Amino acid sequence: MRRVRELLVAGGYTVAGVRELLGDVAGGALARDEVVPALRATRGGSPLEVLTRLFWLQVPVPVDGMADELVAAGLVEVSGGEMRALLRVEPLEDVGGQGHAGYVVSDLKVRPGMGRLPGEDHVVGAGGASGNLARLVVHRGVDNLLDLGTGCGVQAIHAAGRNPGASVTATDVNPRALELAAMSFALSGVEGAELLRGSLLEPVRGRRFDLIVSNPPFVVAPEEGPRFTYRESGMAGDDFCRMLVGQASQYLREGGYCQLLANWLHIDGVAWEERVGGWVDGCDAWIVQRDVQDPAEYAELWLRDSCEAGTPEYRARYDAWLDYFERRGVAGVGFGWITLRRSERPVVRVEELRHAVEEPVGAYVEDVMDGLKKGAEFSTSCGKVLAAAPGLVQEQIGPPGAEDPERIVLRQTGRLRRAAGVGTVEAGLAGVCDGTLPLDPLLDAIARLTGADAEQVRAHADAVLPELIADGFFI
Ligand SMILES: C[S@@+](CC[C@H](N)C(=O)[O-])C[C@H]1O[C@@H](n2cnc3c(N)ncnc32)[C@H](O)[C@@H]1O
Repeated sequence: MRRVRELLVAGGYTVAGVRELLGDVAGGALARDEVVPALRATRGGSPLEVLTRLFWLQVPVPVDGMADELVAAGLVEVSGGEMRALLRVEPLEDVGGQGHAGYVVSDLKVRPGMGRLPGEDHVVGAGGASGNLARLVVHRGVDNLLDLGTGCGVQAIHAAGRNPGASVTATDVNPRALELAAMSFALSGVEGAELLRGSLLEPVRGRRFDLIVSNPPFVVAPEEGPRFTYRESGMAGDDFCRMLVGQASQYLREGGYCQLLANWLHIDGVAWEERVGGWVDGCDAWIVQRDVQDPAEYAELWLRDSCEAGTPEYRARYDAWLDYFERRGVAGVGFGWITLRRSERPVVRVEELRHAVEEPVGAYVEDVMDGLKKGAEFSTSCGKVLAAAPGLVQEQIGPPGAEDPERIVLRQTGRLRRAAGVGTVEAGLAGVCDGTLPLDPLLDAIARLTGADAEQVRAHADAVLPELIADGFFI
């Protein structure tokens, strides 16, 4: 595998290399599963073009000098003077989009119109969801980490790359996933990773980690019909995510993080925030809903994902999915991120954030968790000094020429890009809090300047500052 890795790197087979080779048009078409423009862009026969055709576009290429090594590694087969990929090998870029992070080996991608569905033990490559989770994962250094449901190994490779020397454990219920993850690790220079087979947290019972990362089989699907292990656990509803969230604290060291992507059901008559927030046990939690789909959208999404759209069974499968949701009173399905941090005094925040935030979130997620804690514990009498968060701007909204604004908005220009309507006290504090001055005299000065009663100003600050601190406006 070392020799194969050298061939791939020497051939310039990196995300940046392929992106430049394909250009925007062919790259955009490929994102829509259309390969013709990419085939046109790779007709030259250079090593990068050969590797891209073989492993990315999955078309046969003439045998060349790389064949012996690729065959010996079990990645391609040769017949009739041509090489064909047996497995998909994709380059990975680091979460900042700046550099090469390694390679992941997965089963060949099944595209619509190929006339077949993924097999039950199909191992998927690094997709959009994998990237979303990788960018969410905390950047703090860790000594050991677990990638639960490792699949092609993508999360472990990202986390190991950021934590040289950390011990890496990767688990999966699918033995084929573990085989391919081992190949990915070898091609990515991740050494000594422990690969364990088993469901949920069972393979690591009794152990604790600094970091647990999981892009789990979160898809909620009816029991009847084909089951795709790469996305479905076989458990009822959203039980897999519920159990992982509920059990995580028993597998985390103090202060350790568990981060996962999840789907959760919106059940008629039940507040989803309470339902999902209620899964948490023994951890601070930041649960973010990034999208919601209605039952029909959800069934269509996953039927397309498994290339079932257009098959003779499509209508029956679609119908069964809607039946399944109807029986359970499901009004929709939420998609989101869950960040847990083991804690003695848990603080749980459940919210919806649909807008684009600064990436990678992992670079500042610790500050988000600290802010939630700080906000929950804040009162003006605790003697803390505050600073307005960097990158904050103030917007004044009102009729042109008016002396006083009708509304004042504090807006974060980075990170979670939140906006909050505030009063003159908070706006005044945002102008003067620099992390050095105690809060008491500042509140007194604001009371004098605005002609308000000092006690009322303090009471107002006690009421509004916890939320503004939790939301990262003050640190
Ligand atoms: C969505 S894929 C994620 C793969 C990869 N970690 C990523 O981020 O792209 C989910 C993985 O969970 C595995 N899986 C399915 N059921 C599981 C279970 N009960 N326990 C552990 N892993 C499971 C699947 O085999 C699959 O590899």
